[in-house]
Amino acid sequence: MPSSTNLKSKRVLICVGGGIAAYKVCELVSTLFKSGLEVRVILTKSAQEFITPLTLSTLSRHQAYTDDNFWQPIYSRPLHIELGQWADLIVIAPLTANTLAKLAYGMADNLLTNTVLASTCPALLAPAMNTDMWEQVAVQRNWRQLLTDGRFYGIETGSGLLACDRIGAGRMAEAAEIFVYIQSLLHTQGNRDLAGKQVLISAGGTREFLDPVRFIGNPSTGKMGLALAQAALHRGAKVILVHCPASWDVPLGIEAIPVVSAEEMQQVMFKHLANADIIIMSAAVADVKPRDYSSEKLPKRSLPENLPLAPVPDIVAEIGNRKQPHQYLIGFAAQTGDIITPAKEKLQRKKLDAIVANPIDKVDSGFGSDNNQAVFLDKSGREVEIPACSKLEMAHYLFDFVV
Ligand code: C5P
Repeated sequence: MPSSTNLKSKRVLICVGGGIAAYKVCELVSTLFKSGLEVRVILTKSAQEFITPLTLSTLSRHQAYTDDNFWQPIYSRPLHIELGQWADLIVIAPLTANTLAKLAYGMADNLLTNTVLASTCPALLAPAMNTDMWEQVAVQRNWRQLLTDGRFYGIETGSGLLACDRIGAGRMAEAAEIFVYIQSLLHTQGNRDLAGKQVLISAGGTREFLDPVRFIGNPSTGKMGLALAQAALHRGAKVILVHCPASWDVPLGIEAIPVVSAEEMQQVMFKHLANADIIIMSAAVADVKPRDYSSEKLPKRSLPENLPLAPVPDIVAEIGNRKQPHQYLIGFAAQTGDIITPAKEKLQRKKLDAIVANPIDKVDSGFGSDNNQAVFLDKSGREVEIPACSKLEMAHYLFDFVV
């Protein structure tokens, strides 16, 4: 049984720079506190033009530090040393062009930059700035330069309408996305064990249409595949996510390819198969489709009493036949009742390297839930129970086993 990432014992230091995206950090700090993490906050002088230390001290249940506290240590040691050594993870959000430049050159002229230099833990960077600022040659050079240092992890900026009314790049990642990245880094302690690997993942429930409005489908929401994609990305992989219609947004940095039917999914999976090192079929593929398709909506009276069905391709079994020895193939088996016996049978019949047997008849796991529980089985006979945990945590356990 894998040991759980106990968020409650982890310490996260949030460093807030001066940009309008600072407002999103309030939500992030609130989420971190509610999830049981210990949170401390530093605000730069310009960050305080946007949000106040009172806001963040209230949300983190602890004093929020500013440069005014820099030379007034409340502990026996200087504050930047104390905070730098206290943190398991530092998050700089929003990262401004100014702080980015200072960090790229190792400068230390305020509490934030001194604390970063006085620490050795992983540091997650969430830049935010006006498009022209972000695209400056100097800013891009500093960004690339900083990311060559292995302790820094960058969350890509998004594009959209910015607060300066410009439409373009430079928008800070949402608090929810930063939170997922934080959980990943706390699990891996910054280990990029999938660097240089390509991970191909399928997610969600396929839809097999009878006419333009009716289909055979299933309740899969694709959340497990999304969590696998996020975990792989945060461990350094290049990720391709082939997903069925979903209600979530694909995080930046993941190549997402939307599909609808099993046949479409098969085509896309095969197209990207050759370059993949790890292939994970977490999609719930409809095993059958209506034999006939009508391009016009069928009137109610024309619906057949018994719907003739035809099989769809078994994608993972075909990948099992085609895969190269260096490729690692994982399937999922969503089951009711005995989850082990059918999973073992599928592991062999579909020529998988491993299978994840997960119950869909338990409370708060399986389809649609943010949590899951499963038994991981592989072809060497390993059988590991993964108790109820978040889908992101489960994704990390699976990669721990595989890597
Ligand atoms: O449906 P079944 O329980 O056999 O699914 C087990 C595994 O097979 C899953 O990984 C699923 O994604 C895959 N599968 C597939 N093509 C199908 C049916 C299932 O790739 N037509």
